[in-house]
Amino acid sequence: MTVIAIDGPAASGKGTLARKLAAHFDYAHLDTGALYRAVGLSVLRAGGRTDNEADAVAAAGKVAEVDLTDPELRTESTGAAASKVAAIPAVRQILLDYQRDFAAHPPGGKAGAVLDGRDIGTVICPEADHKIFITADVETRAKRRFLEIFGEDGAPDEYEIILAELRERDERDMNRSAAPLKPAEDAHLLDTTNSDIEAVFQKALSLING
Ligand code: C5P
Repeated sequence: MTVIAIDGPAASGKGTLARKLAAHFDYAHLDTGALYRAVGLSVLRAGGRTDNEADAVAAAGKVAEVDLTDPELRTESTGAAASKVAAIPAVRQILLDYQRDFAAHPPGGKAGAVLDGRDIGTVICPEADHKIFITADVETRAKRRFLEIFGEDGAPDEYEIILAELRERDERDMNRSAAPLKPAEDAHLLDTTNSDIEAVFQKALSLING
C-alpha cells in the first residue's frame, strides 16, 4: 500500500495536485477538508454553533450522511465553519479513524491512496511513503480563489474579502493546539507562488519517483 500525504494552507492547490496524482497512479483520493466542511455545514444547518463542542461532535458522528458533492460545501463561509469545528480535538478524533482506514484500505481495491489536508503527514499518516507540503503567498492564493469564483470581472472589494478570510483561516489553522497546520519534518516543501499546476504536478512526480 502506497500513501501520499499532501498538506498545505487554504487555496494552495493541494486538492488539484492530489487529484492529479491519484489519477496518474490510479490511487484513491480523499479530500479530508471536505470532511471538516461537512461537519461545519451540518452544524450551521442544524442551527448550532461551530465553536460548541457538543454541536460539532454530534455533527461529526453523522458525517457519513452528508453529500460530499453538495456545492454549499465549497463556499468560503463553509470553509470558515470547517476551520472552527476543526479546532475541537474531539471532532478531529472522530474523523481520525475514517481517514486512517481510507489510507489503509483504499476503496475500489486501489494499490494506494492520496490524502490531502492539514495534518496528513504529521498526524493521520505519519508513516506515509511520500509527504509534500505545498504553499504559496497568501496574496497569490487569494487571487487564484478570486479568479476561480468571479473570473476576470470580479470587483476589487471581493478580492480584499477573500484575502482577509484566507488570512483569518491560516491564522486559526496554524495556531490551534490540536494538529496545527505545519510541515512534517520529512515533508518536501513545494512553493507554488510562481508555478502553474502542471509545473507543480511535474515537480511532485519527480519528488515521488525519486
Ligand atoms: O482544505 P479545506 O479548505 O477544504 O479545509 C477546510 C478546513 O478544514 C481547513 O481550514 C482546516 O481548518 C480544516 N482541516 C483540518 N485538517 C485537515 C483538513 C482540513 O483541520 N486534514
